[in-house]
Amino acid sequence: MIKMFRLIILYAFLFLNIICYSQFKTSDNQNTKDKFINDLLLKMTLEEKIGQLNLPVTGDVVSGIKQNSGVVKKIMSGQVGGIFNLKGIQQIRALQEVAIEKSRLKIPLLVGMDVIHGYETGFPIPLGLSATWDLELIKSTAEMAAAEASADGINWTFSPMVDISRDPRWGRVAEGSGEDPYLGSEIAKAMVLGYQGDLSQPNQILSCVKHFALYGASEAGRDYNTVDMSKQRMYNEYLPPYKAAIDAGAGSIMAAFNDIDAVPATGNKWLLTDLLRNQWNFKGFVVSDYTGIPEMVNHGVGDLELSGALALNAGVDMDMVGEVFLNYCQKLLADKKITEDQINIACKRILSAKYDLGLFQNPYKYCDTNRAKKEIFTKEHRNFSKQVAKQSFVLLKNKNKVLPLKKSQTVAIIGPLANNAVNMPGTWSVAVKHDKSISVAQGMAEYLGNNANIVYAHGCNLVETAEEEKRYTPFGKTFTRDERDQHDMWEEATQIASTADVIIFAGGESAEMSGEASSRSQLSIPKIQLETLKKLKTLGKPIVLVLFTGRPLVLDWEYENLDAIINVWFPGTEAGLAIAEVLYGDYNPSGKLTMTFPKNEGQIPIYYAHKNTGRPLSGPWFQKFQSNYLDVDNNPLFPFGFGLSYTNFEYSNLKLSAPTLSLKDTLIATVTIENNGHHDGYEIVQLYTHDITRSLTPPIKELKGFLKIFLKKGQSKTIEFKIVEPMLRFYDNDLNYISESGDFELMIGTNSNKVLKTNFKLQH
Ligand code: NOJ
Repeated sequence: MIKMFRLIILYAFLFLNIICYSQFKTSDNQNTKDKFINDLLLKMTLEEKIGQLNLPVTGDVVSGIKQNSGVVKKIMSGQVGGIFNLKGIQQIRALQEVAIEKSRLKIPLLVGMDVIHGYETGFPIPLGLSATWDLELIKSTAEMAAAEASADGINWTFSPMVDISRDPRWGRVAEGSGEDPYLGSEIAKAMVLGYQGDLSQPNQILSCVKHFALYGASEAGRDYNTVDMSKQRMYNEYLPPYKAAIDAGAGSIMAAFNDIDAVPATGNKWLLTDLLRNQWNFKGFVVSDYTGIPEMVNHGVGDLELSGALALNAGVDMDMVGEVFLNYCQKLLADKKITEDQINIACKRILSAKYDLGLFQNPYKYCDTNRAKKEIFTKEHRNFSKQVAKQSFVLLKNKNKVLPLKKSQTVAIIGPLANNAVNMPGTWSVAVKHDKSISVAQGMAEYLGNNANIVYAHGCNLVETAEEEKRYTPFGKTFTRDERDQHDMWEEATQIASTADVIIFAGGESAEMSGEASSRSQLSIPKIQLETLKKLKTLGKPIVLVLFTGRPLVLDWEYENLDAIINVWFPGTEAGLAIAEVLYGDYNPSGKLTMTFPKNEGQIPIYYAHKNTGRPLSGPWFQKFQSNYLDVDNNPLFPFGFGLSYTNFEYSNLKLSAPTLSLKDTLIATVTIENNGHHDGYEIVQLYTHDITRSLTPPIKELKGFLKIFLKKGQSKTIEFKIVEPMLRFYDNDLNYISESGDFELMIGTNSNKVLKTNFKLQH
């Protein structure tokens, strides 16, 4: 007994020692870092400190290196803290050499880029990635993107974008993870960990969460537009993903373009200091968005000089492109509108990020010119991209099991996106190899090999006129326009399709119909494509729509009239192969929507976690004096969490371990899921709760958990979720994060509209 006691004491002593040592080591490291940065700061002139806050555009940099122009001169004179969106290790290394060999204090550069969904190997657009509901997978895409980007000189990515949005008119929904704060937060965390992981490693990079904050709530879905929302909604629905990313250790954050409470985010002290620093304890640095500081002049809050002061006073540390800090800080200091201390603090934060990246120890840590050839766009990465793409597809309709296709069938591939590679990676794919991407037609042919039984016709262009098309095809993501008369194209398409057993129509949006500055007021697929589908429909053959889109679309006619719809978003570089493998059933679709698809634009904003109102509608159709529309039912076309499979999953036996949950308890919810169809497959099981009565009107349901499970055909599994009190909390109007005693509904199901329900009580 005594021996045992001694042993316990000994272990406790050792354990304490280890803890103390590691804490001592961390604080030791922190001291070394602080000393290094403070010493450096002492050596810096005011101009050099201001220079660190400058993130200029590097458009002319290639010629600049040679001509000693623009950016290069600025780097030499210590006027640049970082550069961005410059691609190519040689050029980046050359600029880093300028900073290290030709600037007085040899301070290395941050090298940023919009590595949003892959580097050269393109992954599905973020909205597509989110449809996998697979956090490990998403984290791995960020890891791989970081590995490729870092091999090419990049040490900082402007990702993840975590803006919650419930308005598909806003084109930037393509860059985010949809409408739900819980799922959005989990994905935000996964991505930050994927990019940053262990920053001491040369294959991990600094992440920049964006756009802080509430950018996804731009009025009317119009990009860059104003935002106005209650604090209650802000804290409960829009802020959680930013907070999750910061808690996961994101090293930087980007101020949004919009205003909040009539103050531009870039000059919003409440946002960037009170909330971000004081409440959330953020330790990294804040960068403005592209010309965000000078844009405050347009917002109407002051001139350039005042905008600079507002931004620095609010908490912006780095000025992207605006050069307002560079040009005005000295004057602002002389006029006592800002203090040198503020410049010191901002400068220290940027130096600190460079220190954490290991750039002071080795400024060429990300400039190993041997890595790029070996580590970028590798076979392994491309294969992984294909696996991810397959998991992002969402099967929206599959009448008479027209999918999966049989190899014996003759397939007609038709549509503007059938034979186009450069649009496959989608929006914001700055570094992606567009021309090496795989089109649908190419993927199908490669997949089927010698057995290929494919016929092809263009059918129609993306949109009717070349003039209109220009708007949708910037950045080289063009289409080869077919100049033939439309009737000739239809004739050819119907003639070719009539020889086939099944028609695959590859259509929808072009890559640049969503993304930044791509808001749309009408969300149908372009009219000419719809007309083409109508012509094909007259043939009476099964039609499968392979839908490319960066946002929820209005698909009422398509849903009524086509046999199958598979939403492939923009799948990345391996698009065509991934699509072929799913169409032929090598992979059974498992993706689920993370944004609600409306029936028409008038329903927007439409989202699953809405309030009940005092006059809820009890059926799908119009009732006088209830909250609904006269001319369309209140339901969405496809609800949040929706996605079909080639097989069928049956839910039963929802049970709770107890009827009541106390503050310290854990409630176990169990449910049985059976794969009673004819294919093996993944199912994403979703858990929702509903606070039946509380002091602030609750949403009708809120996602609280999910699990991706694999079931062989015929197999069934009982799975469990743990419910604890913190999952039931919300922010009240004094912004206390609380839960209230009372009755809750618990729901588990295959999508937000199809759930099994039970009840429990929360007892404080
Ligand atoms: C503007 C966009 O809003 C932002 O997301 C992006 O990171 C920057 N431009 C830099 O390209």
